[in-house]
Amino acid sequence: MPATRDLTDAPVELDDATVTYRGDRFRRYLDADTIQSRVAEMGQQISADYADTTPILVSVLNGAFMFTADLMRAINTDCEIDFIKLSSYGAAKVSSGEVHELKSVDAELEGRDVLIVEDIVDTGLSMDFMKGRLQEYNPASLRVATLLHKPTATEPDLTLDYVGFQIPDLFVIGYGLDYGQLARNLADIYILDED
Ligand code: IMP
Repeated sequence: MPATRDLTDAPVELDDATVTYRGDRFRRYLDADTIQSRVAEMGQQISADYADTTPILVSVLNGAFMFTADLMRAINTDCEIDFIKLSSYGAAKVSSGEVHELKSVDAELEGRDVLIVEDIVDTGLSMDFMKGRLQEYNPASLRVATLLHKPTATEPDLTLDYVGFQIPDLFVIGYGLDYGQLARNLADIYILDED
């Protein structure tokens, strides 16, 4: 499996499909088939890497719920699930820079192989916070799977083990990702049309 699909230098190819939320227009960027085939590849890789253990996926609410459901179905070895919730952007398109834990995990993580499942890593502040928080439970291993990564926006020292797509530093919605809580139900991912 390729380590990631790097779209950062590719021209942003948009088709004609558009959606409008809260007065802003978005154009389709990654269609459902493209997302699903990449999620299947990630699931295969994770299945191979965790063949000898039973990992626990820690899904980051709310945005990662859809990706987590598809990724878990693409993993063909035993695995468990739990959820964590951090503070979100609210209705903003840029990070506030402050992260709080709104819901902690319920499962016992000590000695477990923990895989954080996230929708998108932007500045990396949330992921950095979460890795530190989960490390306090003394897991046997702690890795990260994120569907999207904006590498040009992220602090360089953050390790991401499984990355679906590396994308430009533009605001995206759909497939669980929201804009003021809307648009999570879109099967495709759309990008803000800045024109
Ligand atoms: P970070 O802390 O800046 O890396 O932001 C992480 C969180 O911000 C993600 O879990 C998302 O909930 C949200 N986020 C970051 N970029 C976007 C985006 O382009 N669209 C929607 N939500 C985003």
